[in-house]
Formats: sequence, structure tokens, C-alpha cells
Amino acid sequence: MKLQVHRTYNFNAGPSALPCSVLEKAQAELIDFRGTGMSVMELSHRSHTYEEVHNQAISSLKELLSIPDSYEILFLQGGASLQFSMIPMNFLTQGKKASYIMTGSWSEKAFSEAKLFGDVYHAASTKEGNYRSIPKVEQLQYHPEDSYLHLTSNNTIYGTQWKNFPDSGNVPLIADMSSDILSKPIDVNKFALIYAGAQKNLGPSGVTVVIIRKDLLEQANTSIPTMLKYSTHAKNNSLYNTPPTFGIYMLGEVLNWVSELGGLTAISEQNEQKAKLIYDAIDSSNDFYFGHADQDSRSLMNLTFNLKTEELEKKFLKQAKEEGFVGVNGHRSIGGCRVSAYNAVPIEACKAFSEFMIDFQTKNN
Ligand SMILES: Cc1ncc(COP(=O)(O)O)c(C=O)c1O
Repeated sequence: MKLQVHRTYNFNAGPSALPCSVLEKAQAELIDFRGTGMSVMELSHRSHTYEEVHNQAISSLKELLSIPDSYEILFLQGGASLQFSMIPMNFLTQGKKASYIMTGSWSEKAFSEAKLFGDVYHAASTKEGNYRSIPKVEQLQYHPEDSYLHLTSNNTIYGTQWKNFPDSGNVPLIADMSSDILSKPIDVNKFALIYAGAQKNLGPSGVTVVIIRKDLLEQANTSIPTMLKYSTHAKNNSLYNTPPTFGIYMLGEVLNWVSELGGLTAISEQNEQKAKLIYDAIDSSNDFYFGHADQDSRSLMNLTFNLKTEELEKKFLKQAKEEGFVGVNGHRSIGGCRVSAYNAVPIEACKAFSEFMIDFQTKNN
């Protein structure tokens, strides 16, 4: 008989909810992984058993995102934050510039790191409007000679998300997809490089996925430390040094879970339904709740909103916590409320939260 497990309503922004079935599988395989008498963490990363796990995760990602053969898939460490530095180190060519589309704190961090290595500028910024929106593709200003154009596909803190990506022509488009990778189908061909820390939609923290067009590897700077060259990891199938083996195993299992659910189209439909439950509670509240993001820029992953007064907001957050909803406080830099409804957050959690919102409004209006 299957035991009823207690799983909390986890709306954490990252690390965040993982699929329960993946955790159960990992638990069942922990002590004796596929007859080895060891856990996956205890296997040599040079062993055949581990290599199978590693290569399976690569091929599952390739299949789910329809990644063409002209791209390498890398599993790195250092989080998305190290990518902020690795990208300019590798690609901000001397005498050239790179442009950044500023849509929130993570774009700011990426930009600040790039400034340490070369000449960078803003292709657009929505800072003036407190990052409530994504710039229109037609408004972007960058130069065809630039080394690359960088954007953040989903702004975890402000709760905005790109709906249509720019076609940057010959300028390599680089995207930080940390908080919405695998949440919907995307056309990988539009991008020269995609990166994402795993700890939202992909698995536990510790692995960073990089999808990079092979021709870009050949153009990279060669006079940088070995570990910081993309080519080092590409040449060695991300096994140049010891990779985060347990994280990669978990990533592989999360990818299997997404495939079993029906892939990215199915998951994106689910994500739309989940977000609608909460946005509907906001939009029908007569401004009792109001969203931070402009409607056409709203994120399906991080749903940010405020209440009429600070006092009411405090009461709301306190009661939400008491009712068992975890992670609803907005990011410390902007406050308010934020529901992170990543892939592994079940629709029941969003239903329960939208009912809580409606009930709270009825009692406090
Ligand atoms: C969009 C985005 N980029 C980058 C980061 C930083 O990621 P890491 O902690 O993996 O360095 C985060 C973390 O939340 C994020 O949401």
C-alpha cells in the first residue's frame, strides 16, 4: 500500500518544488543504484553506469527542447551567476561591444559582470517603470557588429516574461533562461547560447545547463583559464573534471517526468492554467490585489502582486504562512507577494492559493 505523504504548498522562487514522483524514485534508488550496491553519488564519474546517466540527461534535454546537432549541451557549475562572467570572458571580443536588455535585477548583475571585461551598453531598459514590462522588440537598439545581445527570458523578481524573442540577425542572441527553461516550447535556433541554473524547473541546485551553438565555440577567447572556457567542457562532454553527479541524475529524472507528462506543450498548457487561477483572483478583486507586471508582460512562472496597504499585505502574508503556503513573500529587494508556480508546482496548490486569496479578500474588504 502506498503511504500518503505530506507535501507542502511550495511556492519558493528557487530552489523550488521538485516532482514528488522524482523524489520517490531517487529515494528508492538511493542505497543501491541499478544494482551497483552504491548510490549514484558514490559512483565514479568515469564509470559506465554514471556515463549512462549523464548521456541520458543530455539526450533527454536535446529531445524535449528539439535542440539541433549544431549545438552542444553542457553541464557546468557556479550557477547562472558564473555565466554572467563566462559569457563576456569568452565572447566579448576586443574592440567590439555587447548589448544587454535590462529587465530586472538579474540583467543588472549580468551587465555589471560584463562591464569588468569590456565595452557594454543597454539595448533597452524598463528600469524607469520599475521593471513592470518587457521592452517591445522594435524598440531594441543594438549594433549589427556587436559580439552579442543578452536578455533575461523571465524575471524571477519582478514577475515579467518575454512572449516573443527578438530575431537578432547575425548578432548572437544569448539568454538567461534560469527561471523559465522547460516551461514551454521555444525555438532554440534563435539563440546562440542559452543558460540556466537548474534549481527552478530542471532539478536541484548545483548544475547549470548551457546550450551553445558549436560555431560560437570556435570564436571564443583562448587566453582565459581552462575551467572558464566553454570549449574545455564541450571537448570533454562536461566531464573535464568531476561534475555534480547527483544533480545531473536528478535533472535526468526531472526530464523523464516532463516527457511522461506529454512534453513541453502539455507542461505549458498546465502552466497557463495554474497562472490563470492566480491572475484571475487578482484581476477580479477590484484592486484589492494588484499585479506588479503589466498584463502583456506577465510571467507564468513568478506571479508578483501587492495589496492595497502595507498593513493588509503583512496580514495576508502571515495568514498565508499559517495556512501552509510557503515562499509567498516577494523578493527582499522589492517586497510584496510572489507566487512561483514552476513546472513541479501542482495545479491543486494554485487552486488552493487562489481560493485563499478570494477568502482573504471577502474577510478583509
Ligand atoms: C533569472 C535568474 N538569473 C540568474 C540567477 C542566479 O542564479 P544562481 O543562483 O544559479 O547563480 C537567478 C536566481 O534566482 C535567476 O532567477
